Amino acid sequence: MGRDPSSEPPVEELSFEEAERRLLACPEVAVLGLLPNSSNYTFLARVSGPGGEILAVYKPARGESPLWDFPSGTLHRREVASYRLARFLSWPAIPPTVTRKDAPMGVGALQVFVESRPGEDYFKIRQEREKELLPVALFDVIANNADRKAGHCLLDPQGRLWVIDHGLTFHADPKLRTVIWNFSGQRLPARLRGDLERGAESLEAGPLAAELGELVSRRELAVLRRRLTAVLEPGWRFPSPTSGWSVPWPPV
Ligand SMILES: Nc1ncnc2c1ncn2[C@@H]1O[C@H](COP(=O)(O)OP(=O)(O)O)[C@@H](O)[C@H]1O
Ligand SMILES: [Mg+2]
Repeated sequence: MGRDPSSEPPVEELSFEEAERRLLACPEVAVLGLLPNSSNYTFLARVSGPGGEILAVYKPARGESPLWDFPSGTLHRREVASYRLARFLSWPAIPPTVTRKDAPMGVGALQVFVESRPGEDYFKIRQEREKELLPVALFDVIANNADRKAGHCLLDPQGRLWVIDHGLTFHADPKLRTVIWNFSGQRLPARLRGDLERGAESLEAGPLAAELGELVSRRELAVLRRRLTAVLEPGWRFPSPTSGWSVPWPPV
């Protein structure tokens, strides 16, 4: 997570819950500038309060570029919904993400900025980090991620793998678009089944349904439930690309 020499303890040692609390409650959110390589108005921000400061990525609803397939002003909610789903499953590691209403450019997603080693994207790490990338690929199938690029995998200074940019998720139509196709044809690893069973149950009428119901449409929630239960079917295999559209362009 973002490094800040003045805070105690360092931000990378904060629990997810404490980082969320600070993103929500620290009184000051200062916009520092636009982040390069963003397709929307995506800003670097400093979130500060008595406990110290955190560098964050701020995606205001108003800064979302219009798209033909995703309703305007919903991308920041999809970022938060992805984070909540990943926290529930306990994978993959998405930096703490919250909805912040009183931010300088209005309501938007605030996510902890992860300091990362330049150049170590998915293409660089796909062999040695394969075991950790499988839950990322599985999450993308379940969340129906329409934009998993290589640069969305970050390694922090401790070597931990984080994934970012989940604004194009939870569409009701099939939209999986990713660079991570190396698990095509593989079965669901037994070690992940329990998390998915918990998720399926909670999506029926439990806390996960309530939480995500605030962030995506009813139809999107119903189709998410279907995608998740499909993965638990005995014959399920990781999907394969169907056309050139299955890979984002540019891939990084
Ligand atoms: N949590 C984060 N930590 C570190 N860098 C990030 C984070 N989120 C985004 N970035 C950086 O900002 C760039 C733009 O963010 P991205 O999520 O792709 O925005 P957009 O939704 O506009 O496409 C990313 O390519 C990455 O370099
Ligand atoms: Mg992007």
